[in-house]
Amino acid sequence: MSLVLLASCSQDEKKYRIGVSQCSDDIWRDKQNSELKIGAYFHDNVELRFAAAYDSDERQIQQIDSLVETGIDLLIVAPNQVSTISPAIDRAYDKGIPVIVFERKTNTKKYTAYMGADNYEMGHLMGDYVATRLNQRGRIIEVMGLKGSSPAIERHNGFREAIAQYPGIQVIATLQGDWTEPTAYNTVKQWLDKNKEEKIDLVFGMNDRTAMGARKAFVEAGGALPLFCGIDGLPGENGGIRLVQDSLLDASYVYPTHGDQLLQLAVDILEGKPYNKETKLMSVLVT
Ligand code: FRU
Repeated sequence: MSLVLLASCSQDEKKYRIGVSQCSDDIWRDKQNSELKIGAYFHDNVELRFAAAYDSDERQIQQIDSLVETGIDLLIVAPNQVSTISPAIDRAYDKGIPVIVFERKTNTKKYTAYMGADNYEMGHLMGDYVATRLNQRGRIIEVMGLKGSSPAIERHNGFREAIAQYPGIQVIATLQGDWTEPTAYNTVKQWLDKNKEEKIDLVFGMNDRTAMGARKAFVEAGGALPLFCGIDGLPGENGGIRLVQDSLLDASYVYPTHGDQLLQLAVDILEGKPYNKETKLMSVLVT
């Protein structure tokens, strides 16, 4: 009798289909996706459906729409840029699908919960670190993340506000990157070709890949190398922690992935349990 009951019980258990729409595909997102999968092992009623938009707004919009069409019960989304992905997120939300916006922000109010680190604070702390590292005197370059993506905007604001406190620190150039190493390399290379005489003490790349792209351009140009700082601080072979250990980067900031926590939030929402609308993830400097 109890066996029959158990069997019918597990058959009735609802399977939760969670769609994960990532703006990009890189080692940071790989780590996070693995953590989401590990988190899902602890819930045998969770099925994950992943999509990666390779930094394209159009592709991310299409992917969100088609995840919704396949019939998901909840959407987790890291939106490529602040405003561009909002219509697709709104469409999902308006269909009654709970939405967790993760790590990057949008300009829409239509979301169920948000989880992510404070990028303004991270930029600010990096600005203070850079000033201290240079004894409050020096010439620096900032290489930005993708235009219009919220961490790029917030890291920039925090960094520049911190730097503004130190009159001896001069920002010689703010160059546009897009979170990828090749773009950082190309923009910095072009800048160096035109500014051969400039002496630079430090380059802040808004993520570790950007900092490493900048470094490659400086190494190729020859001459004294500045210091390079980034953000992400991933563990593992190509991660920022190793790059700092090997002195290729001077410092990085751990940008938390926490896929496990993210999955738990999704399950809590689906099961009607209490949850926080906004969750701030903590991060730490690596030197
Ligand atoms: C990963 C990534 C990180 C960066 C973050 C910004 O896709 O590019 O390197 O810190 O996104 O949103």
